[in-house]
Amino acid sequence: MEEESVDEESVDRISLPTDLQPFWPSHGGQRNALLAHFGLPDTHPLLDFSTNLNPLGPPKWVAAQLASLSAGLALYPDPTYINARRAIADCEGVSPDQVCLTNGGSEAIFLAASLFAGQKAAILQPAFGEYARACDHYRIAITQLPLQQPAFLPDESLIRDAIRQRDLILIARPNNPTATLIPAETISRWLVLAEQSHCTLIIDEAFIDFCEPGEPSLVEHLQQPPLHQSCLHQSRHLILLRSMTKLYTLPGLRLGYILAHADLIQRLLARQMPWSVNYLAAELVAPLLADRPFLQATAHWLRTESDWLLPQLLALGYRIPTPAANFFLLQDANPPAEEQPSADALFRHLLQQGILARHTHNFTGLNGEWLRLAIRSREENRSLLAALQSWREQNR
Ligand SMILES: Cc1ncc(COP(=O)(O)O)c(C=O)c1O
Repeated sequence: MEEESVDEESVDRISLPTDLQPFWPSHGGQRNALLAHFGLPDTHPLLDFSTNLNPLGPPKWVAAQLASLSAGLALYPDPTYINARRAIADCEGVSPDQVCLTNGGSEAIFLAASLFAGQKAAILQPAFGEYARACDHYRIAITQLPLQQPAFLPDESLIRDAIRQRDLILIARPNNPTATLIPAETISRWLVLAEQSHCTLIIDEAFIDFCEPGEPSLVEHLQQPPLHQSCLHQSRHLILLRSMTKLYTLPGLRLGYILAHADLIQRLLARQMPWSVNYLAAELVAPLLADRPFLQATAHWLRTESDWLLPQLLALGYRIPTPAANFFLLQDANPPAEEQPSADALFRHLLQQGILARHTHNFTGLNGEWLRLAIRSREENRSLLAALQSWREQNR
């Protein structure tokens, strides 16, 4: 890392906006707290568009498979998780010593951050809040790099400066909460500079499986050459984070993994808690990855529903940055005067209409001015469309 030119003026610690109302929960869901705050009964029917899980999952066979595995609960899991790591390695085109199995994408974030304790990070904002929490936990100083509206894509010169000045950059592709995608080619170019500057790019690909089929993962940089034309060697400055939560609708199971150079993985394994991933979760890795029909059905559902829903919302006068995942940001392009600048009145309207949206009060740079909504089944999407149509009719 270049020492001389760090601009400490730009280094600000992340904190929640001071005016964040205590009733705004820090994650999606939390229906009862929100219903109570807005004076609605617990029994008020609500479709949950606030969490970004695949409505097709979990795959049908998962429940029976879990039941058949129950005898294994009397044993400790294999501490090396070698079968699961082999299955991931085969699927990703890397070797098992480049894989660390984790307790969800969240453990992957904290474990990766632990390698940089006391150092300097940059986070593209708005971003998933656990990046900042993980940096705080390991006393990593954070500078925030704003994504540029309206496209929510980064200013390349800011990123290049950050790569020269920081030890690590945290980027999600697609990003949560914006669902926007930085092209793999762009990050490949940044990686060349990162290698020269000894800066590590931590790329969270928790939602990569929802991208258009054929969208390249950055994993090409970790495979044996010459799989990616710009790679002369496996990168030592790239850490990929994956979650199996979103695609397979298994938030209760806790499964994720890290892909990186074998030397980095060795350091991560040395600091990971023993048996961090439970037996049932570890046993499910191989069959989940082998379920290609589920992946294809998901791709078909998402393309069909995105093509049906998003043009209708744009035609109603809502602003939506082009999404590359199973959710999107939404803002009323012509809000009523009393609604500006926050989207609270629209949030309340949707709640009354039986739609739970994700507020954005605790996303840096969004400040409650947008809502995040998941793409769900046709029946649910119809209800969302109707609720947004009725808001438009009331607020012409
Ligand atoms: C971008 C991103 N990465 C990682 C995670 C964590 O996923 P997991 O539930 O597997 O811990 C989330 C969860 O919302 C997320 O949005």
